[in-house]
Amino acid sequence: MNFIEMFYFFYFLWALSVLFFSKATRGSDISQFEVHSLPGSPSLPTSWAGRLPVPGTQTGNDLFFWLFKTEDVAYDDDLIIWFNGGPGCSSLIGMTTGNGPLSFFGNSTDLTLNPYSWTKLGHVLYVDQPVGTGFSTASAPYPAKNNADVTAHFVQWLQSFLDLFPHLKSKKIHLMGESYAGIYIPYIASALLENNNPLSLNIQSISLGDGSWGNAAAMADVAMGTYLHTQAHQLKIPKSILSAFTAADNICGFTDTLKKAQEYPPRSKFHVPGNPENMNYRRDLSRHRRDLITAGDGSCNISPNNASGIHDSILNSTCYGPCATFSTAMDYLTTTSAAGTGPPCYDVYDISHDCSTISPPPLLGEYFSQKDVQKALHVEENGPYSACNSTILGTLLGAIPPTPPAYDILPSLVTKHNLSLHIYNGKWDMLLNHIGTELSIQNMTWRGGQGFVERPQRPFFAGNAAPVNGSSCSAGTGVWTAERGVSYHLFDGAGHSVFASKPREMFSFVRDVVVGRRVD
Ligand SMILES: *[C@@H]1O[C@H](CO)[C@@H](O)[C@H](O)[C@H]1NC(C)=O
Ligand SMILES: *[C@@H]1O[C@H](CO)[C@@H](O)[C@H](O)[C@H]1NC(C)=O
Ligand SMILES: *[C@@H]1O[C@H](CO)[C@@H](O)[C@H](O)[C@H]1NC(C)=O
Ligand SMILES: *[C@@H]1O[C@H](CO)[C@@H](O)[C@H](O)[C@H]1NC(C)=O
Ligand SMILES: *[C@@H]1O[C@H](CO)[C@@H](O)[C@H](O)[C@H]1NC(C)=O
Ligand SMILES: *[C@@H]1O[C@H](CO)[C@@H](O)[C@H](O)[C@H]1NC(C)=O
Ligand SMILES: *[C@@H]1O[C@H](CO)[C@@H](O)[C@H](O)[C@H]1NC(C)=O
Repeated sequence: MNFIEMFYFFYFLWALSVLFFSKATRGSDISQFEVHSLPGSPSLPTSWAGRLPVPGTQTGNDLFFWLFKTEDVAYDDDLIIWFNGGPGCSSLIGMTTGNGPLSFFGNSTDLTLNPYSWTKLGHVLYVDQPVGTGFSTASAPYPAKNNADVTAHFVQWLQSFLDLFPHLKSKKIHLMGESYAGIYIPYIASALLENNNPLSLNIQSISLGDGSWGNAAAMADVAMGTYLHTQAHQLKIPKSILSAFTAADNICGFTDTLKKAQEYPPRSKFHVPGNPENMNYRRDLSRHRRDLITAGDGSCNISPNNASGIHDSILNSTCYGPCATFSTAMDYLTTTSAAGTGPPCYDVYDISHDCSTISPPPLLGEYFSQKDVQKALHVEENGPYSACNSTILGTLLGAIPPTPPAYDILPSLVTKHNLSLHIYNGKWDMLLNHIGTELSIQNMTWRGGQGFVERPQRPFFAGNAAPVNGSSCSAGTGVWTAERGVSYHLFDGAGHSVFASKPREMFSFVRDVVVGRRVD
């Protein structure tokens, strides 16, 4: 899906006791939130939608939720909470593009039922957060200045939400999300579990899909050249360009780092040499904001289209900073795509997309801006809805100091709190590519060891995400491994949002791995 036009630049994805209900009505009056029917839609599973204030904040900060009751009583014990990323993108994107009960029919706002809806695998809660995202509202000036505010708001809000739906308090909770939710979710889980679990919740697992939870320089710059090599055919990259990336990787020391990450088990921590561009959180903070602006307005782009242009953009750009493989790759592909020599309608979120790919955000914008739809969801008078908000994106990615990468806190969630951590990636995602994800996993130490001992190479299949031996009559869906409470699945044929192109495979993954706890 091509979200690119939604943002002023894809780069930004990185950078990354006012109780409304009196005690008397708490836990009782949910009927006012019931969604009875939705315009243009087949009949829905039982659901409740609306807004609830974030306690302890100014008036006007209300988070929108849409809660679906499980369609299968066998999964009555499970509650999945889904988060989209951005930051500032609505969770209704995931809900309508392959994980929820409804999907848009083709390039229209007609809705159809999704046979692979996760509502068949548990109660599912979609929340638009932080405040101001999607149907959620925010006071002015914008109150979520950094990730700590975002986390605190969500946790405060969840408490009052669970007071309204008290039967959910005892469920097994699975926090799942993609992209920038790779930062939201670990911090939220940590806030819920540290300090003696103030809400006494039973959080069983977290799942991070194509998530920005690692060291940003490692996930972007270190891995980029190698990723281009593996996808050179799809991306129409000639040998001379690949060689220029290889030469730069050698000069920047990335080749060494990657080599260490290829050893299973790894022998030591991986160092990211130098001080590469693109949100290396260790570097000079005064550059952080400046870089966001220059990357956002395209002023560092020298439109490289030959080997010497690649070399100059990676190594000699005073604008991007040293070793700018990520931005250079983006600039190269947008240049060749526009010139007609590269992939047509190049999409960093899924390199298999072309000009016939439908972009969901405009469809969401059109549908959820309809007055009758808003009335059905109890958000009358919302005004136009938009799937992503660039003000929120800019605020959180530009926060000083930047949010530290979440890989610092993941090990404690797994080791101390016994959470299952599921990491997955789509192979066609170039924004947060799988090589960077694998590198980041191998650099992490949990339950007494660093990384996986075994390389992820066991195949899995749609309909059965657990170990199955290769068989000639069934095409594999990807490879996986799991050790000491952490699993990793790499999906073939999928981009940044795995369920968007592989809803059946993703459904099996959620059923067998996340909710079924088949790997550990
Ligand atoms: C995005 O969020 C900000 C902060 O709440 C708000 O002022 C602005 O109107 C929103 N923009 C859109 C397009 O919704
Ligand atoms: C690996 O972990 C070490 C220590 O935790 C950290 O200093 C280093 O930056 C990490 N490297 C990568 C590639 O994430
Ligand atoms: C490479 O491209 C630049 C323009 O982007 C051009 O000025 C330069 O002459 C080219 N170099 C070669 C060797 O073709
Ligand atoms: C370009 O960068 C390389 C590597 O950092 C350096 O050796 C070289 O002198 C630079 N060239 C120019 C023209 O600045
Ligand atoms: C979908 O519809 C919009 C609006 O009519 C149009 O701009 C866009 O090109 C269409 N996309 C495809 C893939 O047909
Ligand atoms: C940790 O979780 C696993 C299930 O993933 C469970 O079997 C085990 O008993 C738990 N251990 C502790 C100490 O709670
Ligand atoms: C599956 O593969 C494993 C290891 O390759 C082998 O030991 C086992 O016998 C196989 N099982 C079946 C049912 O083919």
